[in-house]
Amino acid sequence: MKSQRLIVANWKMNPETPEAAREIFLATRRVGDKLKRTETIMCPPAIYFAGLAKLASKKVHIGAQNLFWENSGSYTGEISSTMVKSSGGSHVIVGHSERRELGETNEMINKKVLAALKQELTVILCIGEKERDAHGEYLSFVKQQLGSALSGIQKKFVENFIIAYEPVWAIGKSDREAMKGSDMYEMYIYIKKVLTEMLGREYAETIPVLYGGSVSALNAEDILNNGHVNGLLVGRQSLDPIQFKDILTIADAQVKAAK
Ligand code: PGA
Repeated sequence: MKSQRLIVANWKMNPETPEAAREIFLATRRVGDKLKRTETIMCPPAIYFAGLAKLASKKVHIGAQNLFWENSGSYTGEISSTMVKSSGGSHVIVGHSERRELGETNEMINKKVLAALKQELTVILCIGEKERDAHGEYLSFVKQQLGSALSGIQKKFVENFIIAYEPVWAIGKSDREAMKGSDMYEMYIYIKKVLTEMLGREYAETIPVLYGGSVSALNAEDILNNGHVNGLLVGRQSLDPIQFKDILTIADAQVKAAK
C-alpha cells in the first residue's frame, strides 16, 4: 500500500560540502525510518547524489532536482534519467519555478517528464503561478502548465506521478506568508478537477498533490489538515534536521486528514 503522506526535501544548491550533506541526510533518515505512514524523498544537488543514494532506505528515498531528456550525449552539465536511475535514485523534481526562471519552457518540461517516466522514475512535477489576479487567470495558467507537462503521457505511468503545487509568490518567504490551508484546499480541488478532465476520475484520484512554499513546523499542520494535501515539498527547512524532524513528525501524526 502506498504511504499516506509524502514529504519531499528540496535542498536546492545546498549544503556546501559533502560532509554536511551526509550529516543532514543521516539525521533525517534516523527520523524518516521510524515514521509509520510517511515517506521522505531527499533531493540533494547532483554532485552528492550517488554518495547519498547508497544511504537511502525503504522509507527515505533519493531524488534528483532536475534532469535532461536524452539518455546520454553531448549535453555539457546535464544529467539523464538513466544516470539518476542507475545511481540509485527513484524520484526526480521536474519544472521547479527556479528552473523555469532560468528559461525552462513547458515544452522542455514535458520532454523531461516523458524521459523520466520511461525510466520508471517517479516525477514530482512542480506547477504554480507567479502571482494571483482578481479574474482567476492564474487558474488557466496552472491548467496550461499541467496540460502541457502531461501531454502524451501513457496512463500506465500515472502511478509514478506526483504534483507539487508551489505558488511562486509563496516560495522563499516567512512561514506566515505560506499559503493558508483553506486556500490550498481550493487549489487542491481545482487541480483534481483538471486532472479528471485530462485523465478521467480513476487516474486523477491516484495522483498525490503536495504543497510547497515556505513550509515550516509552524504552518505544516494547517496546510496538511485544512489543505487536505497528500504531503509537502520543503525547501530551506529541509536543511535543518531539527526543524525538518518536526515537519516529518507532524505529517505522520496528522495522517487522518489525507484523502
Ligand atoms: P522554501 O522552498 O520551502 O524554501 O520556500 C520551497 C521550494 O522552492 O521548493
